Amino acid sequence: MEKFVIEGGRRLSGEIHVSGSKNATLPILAATLLTDGVCEIRNVPKLRDTLTMCKLLRSLGKTVDISGNKVTISGAVNNHEADYKLVSTMRGSFCVLGPLLGKLSKAKVSMPGGCVIGVRPIDLHMKGIMALGVKADFDAGYVIAHAARLKGAQMYLGGTFGSSVLATANVMMAATLAHGETIIECAACEPEIEDLGNFLSAMGAKIQGHGTPRIVINGVKKLNGTSYKMASDRIEAGTFLLMAAATKSDILVKDAHYNHLLALVDKLQSIGAEVKRVGSHDIRVKCKKTLKPANIVTHPHPGFPTDLQAQYMALMAITPGVSIINDRVFPDRFMHIAELNRMGAQIRRDTGVAIVEGVKQLYGAPVMASDLRASAALVMAGLVAKGKTEIYRIYHLDRGYENLDVKLNNIGAKVSREKE
Ligand code: EPU
Repeated sequence: MEKFVIEGGRRLSGEIHVSGSKNATLPILAATLLTDGVCEIRNVPKLRDTLTMCKLLRSLGKTVDISGNKVTISGAVNNHEADYKLVSTMRGSFCVLGPLLGKLSKAKVSMPGGCVIGVRPIDLHMKGIMALGVKADFDAGYVIAHAARLKGAQMYLGGTFGSSVLATANVMMAATLAHGETIIECAACEPEIEDLGNFLSAMGAKIQGHGTPRIVINGVKKLNGTSYKMASDRIEAGTFLLMAAATKSDILVKDAHYNHLLALVDKLQSIGAEVKRVGSHDIRVKCKKTLKPANIVTHPHPGFPTDLQAQYMALMAITPGVSIINDRVFPDRFMHIAELNRMGAQIRRDTGVAIVEGVKQLYGAPVMASDLRASAALVMAGLVAKGKTEIYRIYHLDRGYENLDVKLNNIGAKVSREKE
């Protein structure tokens, strides 16, 4: 296993480039199961999670060729069973359920289970596919689903915590080859869903409204192969904006979609950071003065994203004053508190929220990464801390940030990847 060793206290400056979006790539790779044609997907981030999805596609019969950041997928799916060993390592793999059902009208997919960020049920996925006429059962940890022919239907996909990104993705993919019209009400509006809708359209699907709470899909008989370039990763971009604010730096984040990050940009501006759109694809963030504390509540898009909650907490940890952080998407996503406190932060949990009392200085310490975004928060804390921070179990980071150490070193950080 590897660890990051960070020497903190350095200002960052220059340009940092955002990779392709992990959470848009995963369902798009899964969507290639819907066609026997060749799909070429460019700007795919080389991450543990995208490689796991490629392995899963191979196990389902596809030929997957990876060349740099381009993935070419060909051949027909010849197996409808997504194995526990692959699905259990990454929840995103559950989104092969929809395309397997769309293409083969049957699927056996391991249930993903919970994870450190919360319980993570699959009731909305099941509700959606069953509305399309699928019969589904649970057996020995697997979802076993089949239908004579999927039939379009209107459905409401909102749950206790709002819409679901991957449930929306599963139903969209299944519905592209179903008979008739499907209407998803309370669909997830995340940019990743918009991207998936664009990809499915490029494959020949008839789909409208992706990116809004009402998606309408008219089933077609067949989908074709296509070539597609992945949009950049809004969460990686947001992480860089927060890192610049925390280290009082001036950086240009290249290939960052301003419109995908409005909730974060608005919050950063309101607390005193300068954040500006540059041209159509870049964002400049400049932060010289001490910021003000401010509360956040996470919500589905376009609200403040849960995937930036931990990193925002790291910023508030060094911002004088008190701020309250409430995660309404994953109410238990607070594993990073204990590790940030090991570095001198003053954060406590109180009935579903985190209360952060900003301190003047964090101090380097050995800390343990618990999940992807918590790890990014620890890297941020390491960048501002006095002294040396060692972050163990960085395989969590490698699931979602491409070459993070190299990218940060290019703008003046001192991060080394070492054997544990
Ligand atoms: N939910 C249900 N029932 C369901 C599905 C979800 O109640 O059947 C609840 C969840 O428990 C949660 C809320 O709905 O409270 C939203 O979860 P969602 O289904 O939208 O999450 P997801 O689709 O499983 C994706 C991302 C996550 C990101 C969330 C929220 C991928 C591969 N994962 O997960 O990304 O946090 O949407 O935006 O796209 C990450 O990248 O670090 C990450 C965890």
